[in-house]
Amino acid sequence: MGRDVIIACDFDSKTELVKFLDKFSEDSLYLKVGMELYYAEGPEIIKEIKRRGHKIFLDLKLHDIPNTVMKAMKVLSALDVDMCNVHAGGTIAMMEAAVKGLTKEDGTRPLLIAVTQLTSTSQERMTNDLLIDKNIDEVVAHYAKNAKQAGLDGVVCSPLEAGKVHDLCGKEFLTITPGVRFADGEIGDQVRVMTPAQAKEIGSDYIVVGRPITQAEDPVAAYRRCVNEFVGE
Ligand code: C5P
Repeated sequence: MGRDVIIACDFDSKTELVKFLDKFSEDSLYLKVGMELYYAEGPEIIKEIKRRGHKIFLDLKLHDIPNTVMKAMKVLSALDVDMCNVHAGGTIAMMEAAVKGLTKEDGTRPLLIAVTQLTSTSQERMTNDLLIDKNIDEVVAHYAKNAKQAGLDGVVCSPLEAGKVHDLCGKEFLTITPGVRFADGEIGDQVRVMTPAQAKEIGSDYIVVGRPITQAEDPVAAYRRCVNEFVGE
């Protein structure tokens, strides 16, 4: 499977998204649509992006009882998204149900990725709020293995963890990594960052890049620079 750059479309309306997409007349993009945009605009936003010929990672992070997740995934699969995700904390049974719901009659399905622990969950919060007293790295590794066991395709992780995930779960198991910045760019609120070239070096399969592209003076040039660094030879 080829490496690709996924643009995080953290816009709050279709108008903003369309304004951004209109700049790209020649590129076929991979776009991440999150809860904010999806809840504001509904499935129509997915159809609009598909009409324009782009791929979609629908980042809704499902987490519910297996039966509900299975039915919800069936709906998302019919929207023809290319990638979607669940919280691994929902258990192996829930992840298996998600795979089942996503799988179409012809046996194909969008890629399914797990979130292990959110980067906003510190060791302290995990121990005190969630009463999980294991080390956070151990929990992340265990959840990644659970996702693999349930038949998922990969996990979202820091580019710094991509190598470790591949060691644990095999190099076919996908790593989707946010927290990417250009060497000469602003870091913003991200803490542990890597450049696209470093992410490639360490073996990320997909990088998720938002503001370095969406807020750039020339988003098309920033996108192409990112693709060159990450995908180029
Ligand atoms: O603008 P920026 O490049 O920081 O955007 C990164 C995207 O990846 C955002 O949509 C953010 O919510 C998402 N993300 C992240 N860190 C995680 C999981 C998701 O930055 N651990």
